Amino acid sequence: MVISKICCIGAGYVGGPTCSVMALKCPNICVTVVDRSAERIAQWNSDKLPIYEPGLDDVVKKCRNVNLFFSTDVETAIREADLIFISVNTPTKTFGNGKGRAADLKYVESAARLIAEIAQSNKIVVEKSTVPVRAAESIMHILRANQKPGIRYDILSNPEFLAEGTAVDDLLHPDRVLIGGEETSEGHQALEKLSWVYQHWIPKENIITTNTWSSELSKLAANAFLAQRISSINSLSAVCEATGADVSEVARAVGLDSRIGSKFLQASVGFGGSCFQKDILNLVYICEGLNLPQVAEYWQQVIHMNEYQKTRFSQKIIECLFNTVSDKRISIFGFAFKKNTGDTRETPAITVCKTLLEEGAKLDIYDPKVEPEQIIDDLTHPCVTDSPEDVKKAVQIHSDPYSAVRGTHAIVLCTEWDEFIGLDYKRIFQSMMKPAYIFDGRKILDHDHLQQIGFHVQTIGKKLNRSSGLLRSWGSIPQL
Ligand code: UDX
Ligand code: UDX
Ligand code: ADP
Repeated sequence: MVISKICCIGAGYVGGPTCSVMALKCPNICVTVVDRSAERIAQWNSDKLPIYEPGLDDVVKKCRNVNLFFSTDVETAIREADLIFISVNTPTKTFGNGKGRAADLKYVESAARLIAEIAQSNKIVVEKSTVPVRAAESIMHILRANQKPGIRYDILSNPEFLAEGTAVDDLLHPDRVLIGGEETSEGHQALEKLSWVYQHWIPKENIITTNTWSSELSKLAANAFLAQRISSINSLSAVCEATGADVSEVARAVGLDSRIGSKFLQASVGFGGSCFQKDILNLVYICEGLNLPQVAEYWQQVIHMNEYQKTRFSQKIIECLFNTVSDKRISIFGFAFKKNTGDTRETPAITVCKTLLEEGAKLDIYDPKVEPEQIIDDLTHPCVTDSPEDVKKAVQIHSDPYSAVRGTHAIVLCTEWDEFIGLDYKRIFQSMMKPAYIFDGRKILDHDHLQQIGFHVQTIGKKLNRSSGLLRSWGSIPQL
């Protein structure tokens, strides 16, 4: 069997970009991405794609309706495909056993059941959602329990390592592709077939194969390690603020040790995104289930540190603004969880805004890519507020940073968008209330320049000389 048709169930942040790049690089394969959301599919077929990713528009334009199709006809796509990616969402459970920690596999399960119901020929089924170890096994159970005579299923795990904002580049030039399969000769053949698809553009030596469990655990481990580095540097940022150290200098010095490396050592207001927290919570939950409480506790600490960092930053804003932000207008620069994406899942900006709103502040929010409705949805979510109408009254969304700062007391920078670096801060200073504050939660601005203009500046992991405010207790060391 040669792979000539691929179907991907789930047209989200993973399925959409992955299949678009696959179609670009495999002109001999027809790739159909299906989703049960007609709205999502309509967006993928329009000029305004449902997700913002640099470079993605061009890839989609080149391949769409050539060998890349977006469709709601899930059944036909499954029936015709040789290989099926399951790329549906695996949110954290919000109820029942494992609430708040375990991954909810209901979408994966329903996709597997659908395949079992529809398939009329052999299929290679590839698990591409981030799921806990043993998800491939669950898919296999469902498929095999519903197997029709003469139909064979091979199940592979092929975790996706793309990061949002750089998805196209990550997909074109991945550090590695990981494929896990069953340790049987059939399992091996299936694995080779998927490997052949990737070999259209990725050197064979960068495609590594493991058993299914190693593959699934590697995905959780990679995200846990990355998040751990951020929590580690963020923990040190608190020490830096309480001493004379500068966390950027520390990160540079530490990162030059080739055993450590320089990436993912950028101290920040905290990490966000759909993966880090979810995957670590999953890992913790799995460890508890395996009766490994010490391991669970170890990884849980990465999350605790992230919560601490978000809270610490929010509290600092309030303390510096004379301990009250009630009725003060505050500009929020950036709402996405990182630059170059419109995604707000687990964004630290939500925690910052929630704290300020609870203290009675009025917020003027600007983000170049997040849709205004998304911001309102996030800030009126029941986890954030029990009075959505009050939030709506207190929040104004702007389409331009200069209008977002008019008459405000402070700017809080939550996302490291490049455009924030080049703004005319003299003009901004003039239009703000005085004293004017900037809280740089990403360490991207020129703090000396801002201080020369007259701003009071606070940032992460560095005590600035002229930083002011009544209280400077942020993480101060007790007298020895
Ligand atoms: C360490 C630092 O590496 C060095 O930069 C610093 O100046 C002093 O402390 P050292 O303790 O001499 O050096 O040896 P190192 O190679 O770091 O190993 C420390 C311990 O970690 C050893 O017991 C080693 O076996 C263990 N280790 C190291 C592991 O268990 N796994 C590893 O992957 C690496
Ligand atoms: C992550 C993994 O990088 C990717 O491999 C996996 O497939 C999905 O999860 P993503 O969440 O899209 O990707 O973005 P990432 O670049 O990892 O950033 C996650 C969060 O960490 C962001 O909020 C980012 O701002 C923050 N971050 C990242 C830091 O605070 N400091 C850093 O040094 C790096
Ligand atoms: P991710 O970040 O993991 O890609 P998203 O939420 O962006 O997650 O995308 C997952 C997509 O999967 C959603 O668009 C959702 O509608 C779709 N989906 C979930 N279950 C099914 C299913 N059984 N059939 C088709 N599409 C599904």
